[in-house]
Amino acid sequence: MDLEQIEKAHVYIKPLDYYVLGSVYPPLKAMQPIAPDEMYAGASDDLSLYVHIPFCDQYCSFCHFAKVINPSEDRVERYLRAMYLELEMLSQRLGGARRVRTIYFGGGTASYLTAAQVRELFARIHRHFDVAPDAEITYELHPNLVRRPDCDERLESMLANGVNRWVFGVQSMDNRELAKLNRGHTDQDVLDLLAALRERGQENVSLDLIFGIPYQTLESWHQTLTKLVAAGTPKFNIFPLMFKSGDPITYHYLKEPEIFPDASDRILMHFICDHVLLDEAGYRYGPVFYYSKKNGIASQQQAGKFENIDNLNLLGIGVSAFGYLGGTHYYNVCEIEDYVRKCEARESPVWVGWALSEEDKIRRNAIMSIRASGISRPVMKERFGIDPFEYFADDIAILKELALVEEQGDALVLTRLGALHADGVGTRFVGKNVLELFEQKNAELLLEGSHARKDLMERYDYSPLRRRVLDFTKDLREKAQSRKHLPVAPPLVTSKV
Ligand SMILES: C[S@@+](CC[C@H](N)C(=O)[O-])C[C@H]1O[C@@H](n2cnc3c(N)ncnc32)[C@H](O)[C@@H]1O
Ligand code: SF4
Repeated sequence: MDLEQIEKAHVYIKPLDYYVLGSVYPPLKAMQPIAPDEMYAGASDDLSLYVHIPFCDQYCSFCHFAKVINPSEDRVERYLRAMYLELEMLSQRLGGARRVRTIYFGGGTASYLTAAQVRELFARIHRHFDVAPDAEITYELHPNLVRRPDCDERLESMLANGVNRWVFGVQSMDNRELAKLNRGHTDQDVLDLLAALRERGQENVSLDLIFGIPYQTLESWHQTLTKLVAAGTPKFNIFPLMFKSGDPITYHYLKEPEIFPDASDRILMHFICDHVLLDEAGYRYGPVFYYSKKNGIASQQQAGKFENIDNLNLLGIGVSAFGYLGGTHYYNVCEIEDYVRKCEARESPVWVGWALSEEDKIRRNAIMSIRASGISRPVMKERFGIDPFEYFADDIAILKELALVEEQGDALVLTRLGALHADGVGTRFVGKNVLELFEQKNAELLLEGSHARKDLMERYDYSPLRRRVLDFTKDLREKAQSRKHLPVAPPLVTSKV
């Protein structure tokens, strides 16, 4: 791998700058205030729902998502009531109960809810939406669920409401690594939760893992993978560790970089993962970073997000939820109090959005499909009337020269080498308009100096674009060096379970 050339082509993304170029294109930082009414007119007939539950038992050191740790019962109930108001407002705006094909309950910790709260949440969804009888319903579980006295009751409440797909954050099967991440569970909890689902006939399970974490070695990573393959895991979602400037783990990194795998080990870890799962254990890539057993059940939610979002729009419900409706991406407000107040006042909690132009849609399609089944000539021709090989000719030539992409029939696909740099490859298809808006926003933030870290767009933007410009980590490093102890980081609350 000629990393120097890959870096020169702005495709290699260094660890501290790394982020997945995910489904939100253009990313949050380019978005603008948007009148909610603009969004609803073109919504597709069938919908996917994403429901965000922002509560957790502990503060995992790598996590920058919107959440509250160990909230009071009142706070949870008030949040749920706000979401019910949002469901009602959405259904009214959409002119009645639309058909729902997939639902995803994520977090935070979706399994933080009691059985009674789960039942009520489903009842409210059914009141305002027409959930298809064969809908794919995914529920995120935290492995500490198995240690709750009411674990069985919670699982039964989900099953009784049609949950048929499960995702849980595992991150590692090494207890020292898990403790350093402040995960609040052990490797045994993961195996027990897998067994609890299997006892109930539930085989559609995806496990999240992270490589690049403190204390992890090539060997311990290999063991994490092989233990979970041996446990019969049908699917994995595997990501390299991503840093945001306010995360405890970023302070850990600046203080003790030597306990983290270095840049080349991170690449090797991705390679090990491909080797163990794709070559040895009979998995295939869904999109890059999502692995599933070759004969396993495909995820409709994944397919919708990566290949079919114009026909299956996504409604994001809850604080910080992301959605795509009638050609417009949007984010709900990211602060919980703000979200609750808006819903209680019967106001839309939509914060910012972006109505995609035809060019944005072409670029979005290229970014998403290159990491899935490839950029397809016939699909692009049919949807947008263009030949992608001509449209992106210059970028494709550079990527081919680096052996990161290749033509397979009528599609441009990532090579195995390209898969190791899928996000960097994707950034080559980002539009100038988006990059310019990022630069403009970054210029404003630079004037703010270190206060810019508190800017909500900076805080909640999850993309690799132009992260280096602000170089907050330099600022943090200086602070870390000028103090004996770690600078004040958000408190690490140990699990109450
Ligand atoms: C939105 S999080 C919610 C997961 C769930 N709350 C849990 O912890 O079990 C989904 C997954 O994203 C991944 N993730 C979150 N933060 C990450 C980070 N900083 N770097 C890499 N992966 C991350 C983790 O694998 C995590 O399980
Ligand atoms: S359980 Fe941990 S990783 Fe999951 S949302 Fe909560 S703090 Fe983040």
